[in-house]
Amino acid sequence: MHVENHTFLVTGGASGLGGATARRLCDRGGNAILVDVNPELGQKTEAELGQKALFCQADVSSEQEVSQAIAQGMERFGAIHGAINCAGIVPVAKMLDRDGDPHDLGLFNKGIAVNLIGTFNVNRLAVAEMVKNTPNEDGERGIIINTASVAAFDGQIGQISYAASKGGIVGMTLPMAREMARHGIRVMTLAPGIFDTPMMAGLPEAARQSLGEQVPFPSRLGKPEEYALMVNQIIDNPMLNGEVIRLDGAIRMAAK
Ligand SMILES: NC(=O)c1ccc[n+]([C@@H]2O[C@H](COP(=O)([O-])OP(=O)(O)OC[C@H]3O[C@@H](n4cnc5c(N)ncnc54)[C@H](O)[C@@H]3O)[C@@H](O)[C@H]2O)c1
Repeated sequence: MHVENHTFLVTGGASGLGGATARRLCDRGGNAILVDVNPELGQKTEAELGQKALFCQADVSSEQEVSQAIAQGMERFGAIHGAINCAGIVPVAKMLDRDGDPHDLGLFNKGIAVNLIGTFNVNRLAVAEMVKNTPNEDGERGIIINTASVAAFDGQIGQISYAASKGGIVGMTLPMAREMARHGIRVMTLAPGIFDTPMMAGLPEAARQSLGEQVPFPSRLGKPEEYALMVNQIIDNPMLNGEVIRLDGAIRMAAK
C-alpha cells in the first residue's frame, strides 16, 4: 500500500505512538485523520502536521462519533486507505484489593470498551469506506493495523482488563484478515513492549529507567518513532497479513 497521497485514520493520533505514526505518514506525503478524545492535544498535533492532518474529536467506542469522524475525513480527503488503531487506556486493578473487595466491574468493562470494542468499531466502519477504493497494482484497497501489547501474552498482576482487551485484539486479527482478503484489505497487529510515551510519563524516572533495563536489547524504552517506522514498514510490505508482531527488544514481562 502506498503512503503518498493516501489517507490513514489514526486513532489516538493526538499523542504517543499514534502521534508519531501520523507524523511519519504525513512526512511521507500521506494524509492523517487524527481521531482522539483529547481536543487540546488533537488540535496541537493537527496544527504541527499542517494541511495533511485533520483532527476529529471522537471516542473510538462510540458508533455515532466514529461515523462522524469518518464522514469528516471522507469529505476532506475523498477516501480512506488505512485504519491505524492506537487509542487505548490502561485500567489497573487487582481481582481482589487489599481489603478483599473484588475488581470494579465498570473498570473492567471500560478497558474492554475502549481498547477492544473501540478497535473493532473503528475497523468495521473504516472498511466500509475502504472497499470502495480502486485496487492498486497489488490488488490492495486498504489496510488495518491494530495495537495490542505484550500484555496480551505476558499480562502482569493488575492488568486483567488490559490484558483481556489486548488478547481480544490478537484473537480478532486472523479472522478479520481472512474475511477482508477478498477485498484486498490486510489486517495486522503490533504488540509493543514498553515505549516512552505520555502513557509512561506518569511513572517516576527511576521506575522508567528500571523498566528500560529489563529490556534485553536495546536496553531502553522504545521510541514512538520506532513504532511509527514499523507501521510504515507494514504498510509498505504487501506480504504482511494476518499476523501479530511483537516490537519489544525481547522483553518478557514478569508477573509484577
Ligand atoms: N506506551 C507503551 O509502552 C505501550 C505498550 C504496549 C501497548 N501500548 C498501546 O499503544 C497504544 C498507544 O499508547 P500510547 O503509549 O501512545 O498512549 P498515549 O496515552 O500517549 O496515547 C493514547 C491516546 O489515545 C487517546 N484515547 C484514549 N481513549 C480514547 C478513546 N476512547 N477514544 C479515542 N481516543 C482515545 C488518548 O487521548 C491519547 O491521545 C495504546 O493502545 C496502548 O495500550 C502502549
